[in-house]
Amino acid sequence: KPKACIFDLDGVIVDTAVYHYKAWRRLANQLGFDFTETQNEELKGISRIESLKIILNWGGVSKSDAEMQELATLKNEWYVEMITKMTPREILPGAKEFLELVKANHYLTALGSASKNSETILRQVGITHLFDALVDGNKVSKSKPDPEVFLVGAQELNVPPNQCVVFEDAIAGIQAAKSGGMKAVGIGKAEVLKGADLVVAGLLEMTLAKLENL
Ligand code: G6P
Ligand code: MG
Repeated sequence: KPKACIFDLDGVIVDTAVYHYKAWRRLANQLGFDFTETQNEELKGISRIESLKIILNWGGVSKSDAEMQELATLKNEWYVEMITKMTPREILPGAKEFLELVKANHYLTALGSASKNSETILRQVGITHLFDALVDGNKVSKSKPDPEVFLVGAQELNVPPNQCVVFEDAIAGIQAAKSGGMKAVGIGKAEVLKGADLVVAGLLEMTLAKLENL
């Protein structure tokens, strides 16, 4: 029986993907090109600088390392402007309730996100207290599909990886969980989230029975 739940943030607990998309698109437009919502899917779970490299490649634009740092900072300023206006109503359906349910049933909980803005987002939506450990892009350096972010989470909770269940909306995140020796619950579509032990449309569909049966 699992002992801990590790949650990705963007796309699992809150829908910040739309804000990332808006900010990246504004940057691309400023550089003279555009990209689609379908292309945006490829950026899920990918770190800020890696995302920028992918986007510049789409636009056929090349920049020096220093210029890339500046562009990433500019995008983040626009993104932070949006997330600092977030409210608890932006928590995805069932997410807060599921966190409360697992905590009431003595599971340990951790955040495992690539974002360097996770603390701001959790504070804005008022759920920081529901996590026993917070691991994000400020604490780890290897991007998903590397399992580092989840392994550090397990370590901070003092639970062996095989007793941890990861909740992820990105394929890179499912791969990270599996290569870390954990169970993975995909949030989204089964066709996309191949390799997950279970796929649900959202945390609203998760139950204690489904968790215990993993
Ligand atoms: C998550 C999102 C990505 C984002 C990354 C870094 O993984 O899914 O779209 O690029 O976090 O976020 P940050 O807030 O540090 O720019
Ligand atoms: Mg995500």
